[in-house]
Amino acid sequence: MSKVTVDAPANIAFIKYWGALDLDRALPRNRSLSMTLDSCTSRCTIEPLDGGPDEVWLSESDGGFRAPSAEFVQKVRNHLDHLRQWAGSEQTFRVATRNNFPTAGGLASSASGFAALTLAAVRALGKKASNKELSSLARLSGSGSAARSVFGGYVEWPAGETDEEAYAVQIAPAEHWELRDIIAVVEIGPKVVSSREGHRRAPSSPYYEKRQELLPARLEVVRQAIKDRDLSVLGPILEQEAIDLHLIAMSSEPPIFYWSPGTVDVLKTLRELRQEGLSAYATLDAGANVHVICDADSEDDVAERLEDMATVGFVIRDGVGEGPDFDATHLF
Ligand code: PMV
Repeated sequence: MSKVTVDAPANIAFIKYWGALDLDRALPRNRSLSMTLDSCTSRCTIEPLDGGPDEVWLSESDGGFRAPSAEFVQKVRNHLDHLRQWAGSEQTFRVATRNNFPTAGGLASSASGFAALTLAAVRALGKKASNKELSSLARLSGSGSAARSVFGGYVEWPAGETDEEAYAVQIAPAEHWELRDIIAVVEIGPKVVSSREGHRRAPSSPYYEKRQELLPARLEVVRQAIKDRDLSVLGPILEQEAIDLHLIAMSSEPPIFYWSPGTVDVLKTLRELRQEGLSAYATLDAGANVHVICDADSEDDVAERLEDMATVGFVIRDGVGEGPDFDATHLF
């Protein structure tokens, strides 16, 4: 088996995964629902080795390679161990990976990165797997949201209550609703507290259980809004979900503050844009950067306004995407 390269997309959650039943196996406490992105992707190239331990490299934009942190190498090896165990194989690999967007700034780089690694490694192990199996395997990386990045369009995870049903399902393809995601990057560095740590602390917030009570009804409204392509219904829930995640983070013990002044600034600008008649709503993952969800018709107005803001470093124009791509160019 020769090299395999896969591009896997990031995703932005409309209903967030925040808090786990079992963090080690990334079994979430609640169902989440996301939109798979188109432009923000992670590429992974993997090649079988004749022997020795897995080699892990970060590929740079100038074509060079650099060694990642020991912690990252361990995460990749652990995940390859899960995949080898599943495949009944002892094959080790040379792995290179690259994100085409800022890493770990709350832009779901672990979801796309581990989805790409999973899809590439399963192929390199010579195995065929259903999408359900691939999604469950991606989750074992520890980044639960990777289970959603295996699919394009609008994706719900998990499909059911049991371990066996802890895979994601596509609820609508990308072409169903061509929503845009204009990402206002207000902070580029890696986030201070990992989402894993955020999940671990979440139940210590007094607001955690309250959100769990609200979620089934919220999820139902989001499903229906996607079905009806109704941003006026989806939008306010997007913002409630983002605020609730951060409310829980800020009131966890010890508290986690992901926001920066730019975050608040963008949220304020969006309220102004809506007063001017534009339909654009914010959501945030575990980071300071703001994802602005809008229709294609509003994209230019929203992006230009965000680009003009002093607290916004740059803007990424993305939108709903079709899912992983197996025809990408090898990184080495
Ligand atoms: O998949 P993880 O463990 O990186 O957690 C994802 C957490 C959020 O991005 C904040 C929410 C989500 O559902 O994507």
